[in-house]
Amino acid sequence: MTPIQRIGILTSGGDCPGLNAVIRAVVKCANRRGWDVIGIPYSTDGFMQVADGQYDPEHLRLTDHGYDIPGILQGLDVLQFLSGTILGSLSKSRFDGPDQMAKILAGYEKLNLDALIAIGGDGSLDIIYDLAQRGGWNLIGIPKTIDNDVPFTEKSIGFNTAVQTVNSALYDLTFTAASHDRVMVVEVMGRDAGHLALHGGIAGGADVILIPELVPNLSPLVVTQICQHIADLRQRGRKFALVVVAEGVHGEDGKPKHLIGESLATAIADRSRTLCQTGDTAYCDMDRVETRSMVLGHIQRSGIPTASDRLLASAFGRKAVDLIAEGRYNRLVVWEAGRVRSKDLSDVIATVRECHLRSICPSPVETDSTMVKVARSLGIYVGNPDTLPDPKAVIQEVSAMV
Ligand code: F6P
Repeated sequence: MTPIQRIGILTSGGDCPGLNAVIRAVVKCANRRGWDVIGIPYSTDGFMQVADGQYDPEHLRLTDHGYDIPGILQGLDVLQFLSGTILGSLSKSRFDGPDQMAKILAGYEKLNLDALIAIGGDGSLDIIYDLAQRGGWNLIGIPKTIDNDVPFTEKSIGFNTAVQTVNSALYDLTFTAASHDRVMVVEVMGRDAGHLALHGGIAGGADVILIPELVPNLSPLVVTQICQHIADLRQRGRKFALVVVAEGVHGEDGKPKHLIGESLATAIADRSRTLCQTGDTAYCDMDRVETRSMVLGHIQRSGIPTASDRLLASAFGRKAVDLIAEGRYNRLVVWEAGRVRSKDLSDVIATVRECHLRSICPSPVETDSTMVKVARSLGIYVGNPDTLPDPKAVIQEVSAMV
């Protein structure tokens, strides 16, 4: 095995809290082994810029002491506290045609890297895996995403901090909601997965949590059931309600809907009035239901990385370096049953591609998962179990095929 001298690291796809903590861990572990670490700016774009001579590779070297702050804070190791990524990222690491691909491969060659660590979500890892196959790169992937939808890993970098952000937002909204007896509808990110909404919603004390795996679209039945749930809460003395809806829940027509939270807030207000008009005493004060909606948005991608994300980042960074030291390439670092492990990237990417082809989420919330059961047991409305598709069965079918 040729001794490692120099490895590269890049961040790809949407940013999330904890990326810098991974970079920090990789640099520390690699430097201790005597390896150089080259930080690739803006994911695959960085390789093209290197090929074009825009960067002196020596200026891309990251060191344990490369982030010193002047004055008495000199040497302060800030990276684990900072969100975003010091390397920059690309939303989509896609390259445009064979010329760009050739340039990326040439940039990689020019850097003389013995291996590359790519921190990315399913989409960007797919693209970088493809490049690695073509260029014969020694690739290690580290999963990151607030959506927590990378298959084969229970945890991804950034998810825990995003859950904390949703949790804090719900806490902050509780008091204004209670002061005005309002129904607050909070739309959260997650793409087509409901992990963030489910975990953040349970932690933050939501009364209703809608995730695509359990409520694929806002049918009239679902809206009615939500209003019935709110009416029940009101009768028992809780005059306000917190409703969390994942952005992946579709509109009534089954199609993706921009500002789904706003649509839901309007639908709840309208249906509440209709229920009141039925004359049924259970709904007698539902004409007073007032709703407000907010989109939590990109604030979920920022925030101070939680201790849990920093620990995961440290453990994932170390594992990536260890895999390189062992010469075990083409692996994705994962969290499984309380341990850091690694999986064959080819299997992971095959599953991702098959799921994308079928337009299904590669790692959805399992409808019988502990957290779904917890939500139901706590009396949170998460949809009616009798009328639900089972995404786990579909994923199992896909995994069996690849
Ligand atoms: O995948 C992470 C994510 O934040 C999703 O939750 C969200 O749908 C999407 O990225 C937003 O992407 P952009 O930053 O391109 O608007």
